[in-house]
Amino acid sequence: MARSALMNVMVGAAAKAGRRLARDFGEVENLQVSVKGPGDFVTKADLEAEKTIYDELSHARPDFGFLMEERGEVEGKDASHRWIVDPVDGTTNFLHAIPIFAISIALEREGQIVAAVVYNPIMDELYTAERGKGAFFNDRRLRVANRRHMTDGLVSLSIPHLGRPDHAGASRQLRNLMANSGGIRSVGSAALDLAWVAAGRFDAVVQQNIKPWDIAAGMMLVREAGGFVSDIHGRDDMFGTGTILAANERLIGELERTVNKGL
Ligand code: IPD
Ligand code: CA
Ligand code: CA
Repeated sequence: MARSALMNVMVGAAAKAGRRLARDFGEVENLQVSVKGPGDFVTKADLEAEKTIYDELSHARPDFGFLMEERGEVEGKDASHRWIVDPVDGTTNFLHAIPIFAISIALEREGQIVAAVVYNPIMDELYTAERGKGAFFNDRRLRVANRRHMTDGLVSLSIPHLGRPDHAGASRQLRNLMANSGGIRSVGSAALDLAWVAAGRFDAVVQQNIKPWDIAAGMMLVREAGGFVSDIHGRDDMFGTGTILAANERLIGELERTVNKGL
């Protein structure tokens, strides 16, 4: 598959940061057994990955702005374009040497996501999409799963932990999904959850307390794979509410009703 110049830039940045993260991951596995643990090392790896991506993208498109997890908002001369980047989505997994994390890079143009890359450097799984051109896993075209009933569906749900808000809301969602779905997972990387909906692995995603960099690329993958995305109330304010639902066309309405039961 021939990639566009833009996609080459994005994949190149993800691949470069990914090579380094894969090496760091090996070190994290060693550090698990050390007295100090891998905490500081992971923070450094995260910052270095972000710097690599920042350097690569700003070299290729010097005028574009950024919204990055660690640096925050970086204004560009070109106010219509902004990269939305999470250098490591799934930090807790990375810290525990669980190979489920990803680099997430999206390009926003005039407030709309137009291109997306989600890359898991350990599994070497690359998910890409450009607006109107479909979503791809490595070079294979993606399509969301076709299940018709939530009772058959495998759902990825975020479960808040110590220090995170809305345990009561998540407990209600969990209860509702336990009674109405075919299975529930909590994988720890919102970007990969969404990529896996695009790939037909998960049928649905329910996430709360998320930031734009967690989902910007993933939601584009879902849409370009023929799926639907909304906030938890079925509206289009994922960034504003910090919530996201994703599923195929048949399940998205049922998913929304299911998670909100008892509200
Ligand atoms: C986290 C992951 C996780 C989601 C959290 C995010 P991080 O991002 O996306 O799946 O449930 O809300 O903060 O901290 O690993 O980049
Ligand atoms: Ca994240
Ligand atoms: Ca992160």
